[in-house]
Amino acid sequence: MSSVSIESTTSGPYIRTAIDDLPPYSAGRSVRDAAGEGAAARTLLGLAANEGPYGPFPAATAAAAKQIENANLYPESGFRSLRRELAEFLGVDVARVAVGAGGIGLIHHLSVALLDEGSNIVTCTPTFHAYALDARKQGATTRTTPVRADGSYDLAAMLELIDERTRIVYVCNPNNPTGGIVGRQELLDFIDAVPASTTVVVDEAYFEYARSAGYPDTIADAAFARPNVVTLRTFSKAYGLAGLRVAYLVGSEALIGAVQKVQSNYEVTSVALAAARASLPDTEELARRIELNADGRRRLVEALDRLGFEPLEPHANFLYLRPGDGKAFAKALEAEGIIVRPANAMGDPSGVRITVGSPDQVTETIEALTRMVNASS
Ligand SMILES: Cc1ncc(COP(=O)(O)O)c(C=O)c1O
Repeated sequence: MSSVSIESTTSGPYIRTAIDDLPPYSAGRSVRDAAGEGAAARTLLGLAANEGPYGPFPAATAAAAKQIENANLYPESGFRSLRRELAEFLGVDVARVAVGAGGIGLIHHLSVALLDEGSNIVTCTPTFHAYALDARKQGATTRTTPVRADGSYDLAAMLELIDERTRIVYVCNPNNPTGGIVGRQELLDFIDAVPASTTVVVDEAYFEYARSAGYPDTIADAAFARPNVVTLRTFSKAYGLAGLRVAYLVGSEALIGAVQKVQSNYEVTSVALAAARASLPDTEELARRIELNADGRRRLVEALDRLGFEPLEPHANFLYLRPGDGKAFAKALEAEGIIVRPANAMGDPSGVRITVGSPDQVTETIEALTRMVNASS
């Protein structure tokens, strides 16, 4: 029997240099992390991940429980039922809809499909850090400019950063972590000015919460149906399914086809598909939760203003403030029982983001903030 001799090497297996020094996804601190450090004796409230506070919709819980009984079977290939139902719900052609394992999964697929070594993406800072991380995995670089004073994407400044190697421009609307929004006409003007070979990804992870008159619905509004535009939405936030990992894209057939080529066939589980499908028709439950979020958001803005923190005007399920040292603020508030998210990993060490919880959690947050301020004065 012949044996293949594998040269022993001291350097180990080949790993692409593009991912040298790539930091892991920074998920923010959870109640679980804090408990692991011995904080279990205290009750901590986790408001660092912009999760919905209410769990899945009742119909989604029932559908998921039923579906688990068939967990021996692979999920439906191509996620056709959910894609079809989303297409009907949104009033678009099914060929314009892709479903994936969370917005994070879909951002990864867009990056794999569109970014070559040496290309670049354009974003604002601070923003959702998955864009830049996934660009780096492809050997692409990130060009970025500060958000405007209201925390919205600075589209005019972004145009200046686009060159012939720009493959993706992200518009996070509302922006995570600052909560600012860009309006319909300025977004259309921006898209008109972006080269046809550059894809505009409008990230609407928090779409359901945004209610301002000028806020665009880039799926329902046919003016946004362009070959190089794609919109991302997720079931993780308003629908309360973050743990199941299911989100969708609506865009041109060319972009949707490209994503489907690179995604893995069964990446969305059958349980997640069942839960998402059961959630979609329950528009009443969605409206109820959006209303509760708006109330909580208003109460938190009032309290933060009263306490002297001047939060930016929020449009999603979180608030953003710049106390000067986001980490120090988060540490002080955790001492009062609430875990929030300093924005350093998203590019702004001065800022901190607070998720809007349920009405009781909002009360707890306001009480903890008040104690924190009193303790420091
Ligand atoms: C702006 C933005 N986009 C996308 C996502 C991804 O969400 P998921 O992967 O849970 O769908 C998030 C999650 O926090 C987000 O804030």
